[in-house]
Amino acid sequence: MSEIERIKQARIVPVIRKANLENIVPITTALVKGGIQAIEITAETPRVGELIQKVKENVSDELMVGAGTVLDPETARQLMLAGAEFIVSPSLNTETIRMANRYGIPCIPGALTPTEILTAYEAGANMVKVFPAHTFGPHYIKNIKGPLPHVSVMATGGIHLENMMDYFENGAEVVGIGSQLVNATKLTTEEDYQNLETLAGSYKEKIA
Ligand code: 3PG
Repeated sequence: MSEIERIKQARIVPVIRKANLENIVPITTALVKGGIQAIEITAETPRVGELIQKVKENVSDELMVGAGTVLDPETARQLMLAGAEFIVSPSLNTETIRMANRYGIPCIPGALTPTEILTAYEAGANMVKVFPAHTFGPHYIKNIKGPLPHVSVMATGGIHLENMMDYFENGAEVVGIGSQLVNATKLTTEEDYQNLETLAGSYKEKIA
């Protein structure tokens, strides 16, 4: 199965922002226990390369570990070398897509308008992150998919347990979920990780 197919199969990609070397393993372990199969760790987080490596060394091989908020090709290269299995960005930089393709790693750039989405696709991205999805609402995905059914969509921004299914029903293959699932700076205790596992399980149950 290709990496992009594995991301599609995962369907829900939690966005982990500002985790640290102490909590990244318990956070990702809790997510895996809740049924999550892919995550992104955002690039503005201090020591992000080490965080990616730590997850890859300590958490299930079944979990795909991507780098998020990648704004330029240099950061993409650095994080792919650290072990990132896919690259996500809130914006479109065709050099970043080319860099990822050079290493055989899927790149999911941010693209909102039909022109941006097609530009991303033509530069080699076969999935785009429609962000900020909730500003336009789930129906926007359906409108995009009319003329561009061949481009896979990861809808992200403002998605939570109650509106997630609307995005799938309107054609998103994948959803990215940040603040409504993982608030890394607030997760420190066993109880926090247990609650995270339960919450992840509730997301997973919705798509079962
Ligand atoms: C992202 O970078 O993809 C967003 O921060 C996620 O948005 P959310 O926190 O609204 O889910």
